[in-house]
Amino acid sequence: MNLKTFRSVTAFAPATVANVGCGFDVLGFAIHLLGDFVTARFTDGKGVRIAKITGEKGKLPLETEKNTAGLSVLSLLKAYGEEVAGIELEIDKKMPLGSGLGSSAASSVAAVVAVNNLLGKPFSTRELLPFAVEGELAASGTPHADNVAAALFGGFILVKTHHPPDVIQLPTPEKLHCTIIHPNIEIQTKQSRFILKKEVPLEKAVLQWANVGALVSGLYTNDYDLIGRSVHDEIIEPVRSVLIPGFTEMKAAALDKGALGCSISGSGPSLFALSSNEQAAREIGLAMGEILKNIGLEYELHISKINTEGAALRDRENV
Ligand code: HSE
Repeated sequence: MNLKTFRSVTAFAPATVANVGCGFDVLGFAIHLLGDFVTARFTDGKGVRIAKITGEKGKLPLETEKNTAGLSVLSLLKAYGEEVAGIELEIDKKMPLGSGLGSSAASSVAAVVAVNNLLGKPFSTRELLPFAVEGELAASGTPHADNVAAALFGGFILVKTHHPPDVIQLPTPEKLHCTIIHPNIEIQTKQSRFILKKEVPLEKAVLQWANVGALVSGLYTNDYDLIGRSVHDEIIEPVRSVLIPGFTEMKAAALDKGALGCSISGSGPSLFALSSNEQAAREIGLAMGEILKNIGLEYELHISKINTEGAALRDRENV
């Protein structure tokens, strides 16, 4: 037994909203309240072992090579190169799977942050990104970096390329609030990517990239009105929204209550709506909730400012 045997590090990575309407696979931001904890500790054994998963027990594989967090850590250790003692991971999921809130990304990011700290921080935060993307590849079948980058860095991010990841951190307007409604159904990212059309009509592509540019400009200039006018998805939302009961009505209710913009969070079924103050965010949430109540679907509601901190070392009690 060496000294390292007693060291243990816990990291938290937040839930994230990918796509932000117009930016399929290229835009994302992090929120507060939801996320995953991963504790990493040295053991006398060899290799990486997932000792325990709490929260979504039974739904996630304990085999390291099949688990997104495990795969991300294996990728980190391969790059680290040096022989290390065995590492044990405990994953505490504080967010639902298949919710469109970046559940697999939160586990992967928290795992690489915890293990990096356990090893004495051989990698910078930016260098951790490709390791977490490897985990995402296993979860969704594509190495998209929008959830992992937002969970790792916090705030808004733009993914220029995914593999290897080239990510730009964008500014976060101070007053921006987010309403998240999570209808209690599960949608697998793999499935909701499979149904997407592979070709996009030019006129829709033109509108879409204009909206991405305008949204980024709105973030830089604190132009809330422009942000709202740009959270508009011509391509993905019309296809995926049919999987979400009450989508059209919830979006209409959010906009009616003054939401700047509203769309599907990641691959759904959660929706997000942006607003410029907390009271509006709450009223929007109540109005969206009424729609789900009327169709008899249970849901969770979350109101959050944008999380600009991203992943961090944290005790499990402090989400
Ligand atoms: N950009 C990804 C998608 C995010 O929409 O499929 C998945 O959460």
